[in-house]
Amino acid sequence: MNIKKITNPLSLLLIFGILITACQSSENRQEGVETASQEATTYNEQYRPQFHFSPAKNWMNDPNGLVYHDGEYHLFYQYNPFGDTWGHMSWGHAVSDDLVHWEHLPVALEEENNVMIFSGSAVVDHNNTSGFGSADNPPMVAIYTGHHTDQELQDQRIAYSTDNGRSWTKYEGNPVLDEEMANFRDPKVIWHEGSQQWVMVVALPTEYKVRFYGSENLKEWNLLSEFGPSGATGGIWECPDLFELAVDGDSDQSKWVLQVDLNPGGPFGGSGSQYFVGEFDGKTFAQDPDTEGETRWVDYGKDFYAVQSYDNIPENNGRRIWISWMNNWQYAEQIPTSPWRSAMTIPRSLSLQTFDDGIHLVHQPVQELQQLRGEHHQFEQQEISGASDLLAEVSSNGNQLEVIASFSVDEADTVGFKVAQGTSEETVVAYDAVNGYLFVDRTNSGQTDFNENFAGVHKAPLKQVEGEVKLHIFIDRSSVEVFGNDGRVVITDRIFPSDGSDGISLFTTGGSAELQSLDIWQLNSSWN
Ligand code: FRU
Repeated sequence: MNIKKITNPLSLLLIFGILITACQSSENRQEGVETASQEATTYNEQYRPQFHFSPAKNWMNDPNGLVYHDGEYHLFYQYNPFGDTWGHMSWGHAVSDDLVHWEHLPVALEEENNVMIFSGSAVVDHNNTSGFGSADNPPMVAIYTGHHTDQELQDQRIAYSTDNGRSWTKYEGNPVLDEEMANFRDPKVIWHEGSQQWVMVVALPTEYKVRFYGSENLKEWNLLSEFGPSGATGGIWECPDLFELAVDGDSDQSKWVLQVDLNPGGPFGGSGSQYFVGEFDGKTFAQDPDTEGETRWVDYGKDFYAVQSYDNIPENNGRRIWISWMNNWQYAEQIPTSPWRSAMTIPRSLSLQTFDDGIHLVHQPVQELQQLRGEHHQFEQQEISGASDLLAEVSSNGNQLEVIASFSVDEADTVGFKVAQGTSEETVVAYDAVNGYLFVDRTNSGQTDFNENFAGVHKAPLKQVEGEVKLHIFIDRSSVEVFGNDGRVVITDRIFPSDGSDGISLFTTGGSAELQSLDIWQLNSSWN
């Protein structure tokens, strides 16, 4: 990913980490250090995503501080500089000018004085309300949770940068918000135009609630209201987000989206992400009454958690784009990759659309990904029945693909693809017309036995539109993302196929289906 291989600062950090961690007792941290110190990063390791963000080395979880500033998309992330399991939480950092090619930068915020740097967000303080910059050079301000390791306390803190995020100063008046709570985290801050104030949405995880706070200067915060419990409460609430979106492209009809992650209690166990649609007046979030009692999942796969949307994308661009951690706390620390662990999803652009059962979030892969399209295979309209060999020409090199397919279901019970296919393994990405759902079946996808909760079938309800279904699929060595019917539903799943399991084929069960159109692109690596 256009990596300016900043091996020097990173190696320094690693050496420093080894010295520190050698003195510590935790078995996990010791293991992490060994991994980190022994293996060099090639970006071509087995399972290394080629067009998804992953850190060069070590452990990553939630995306943090997603903000656009002066032509750069910043991606901060929960990072352990010293090992490949969770610990020493700090903010790793990367930037991109196109959301596809990422440049790794040194760690932005390091744990210090028994305070880990937990998840949070970042804003550009255009009016210099904080006083950290100037009118000519507005500061970037990061708002994060301080997680204390010597007492049961989480509080909200800020740090600022006046050099485009290249160096950061923690505010001397930290914490800026302390409610003396053990579980109080993941502040997402936005500028609320209507009430002319900063608004923070922050989780009270064990109460299944979020709170809203307001501020004029990012330093002093006052409580505005609470929301919850509502929707899914099968696990603690974390990492909320809040934004306004036009409904059906009409900005006069906008609604507010409140997104909240929960863990466990996701749609297929472990981590998951839900959203609420309603109104926000600068003080209170009111969920649309007709959606009460429902759970709306953001993504129906198992590997989508702690999603966060970009702040400060210019109005002339106008998109609401988000990126999610592509992992699940059930098995996050055991996925078989080295010397790094975890990846982000591809960035997705959001809209709200009205369907017969109400207003829903609709997701599209960002168009910038199209620059990676290489060899193109296009197939004519034709009937498919049973196992098809139509894709034989693509099949030998199918582990970095974009697929756009449209089917008339006709007589078939199931129609779709087998991907990451080898002699004895496959991941099934298909539509079940009998039961009306899109699914990814990774029970026989390769390595699954590192955790008993990994193998499984993940289903998203999806209606045919005039007898047709459309699948838009991204396969990147160890991940599958499927957008059904132009993003009405999405399924995001990691897979760990054997080397050589890179085939793709079409199939139906129960009768024939009509392939209406099919485009497949080989995708180039963004590391080059
Ligand atoms: C979510 C989370 C956050 C927390 C962070 C710590 O994955 O648990 O609530 O801030 O991870 O790494």
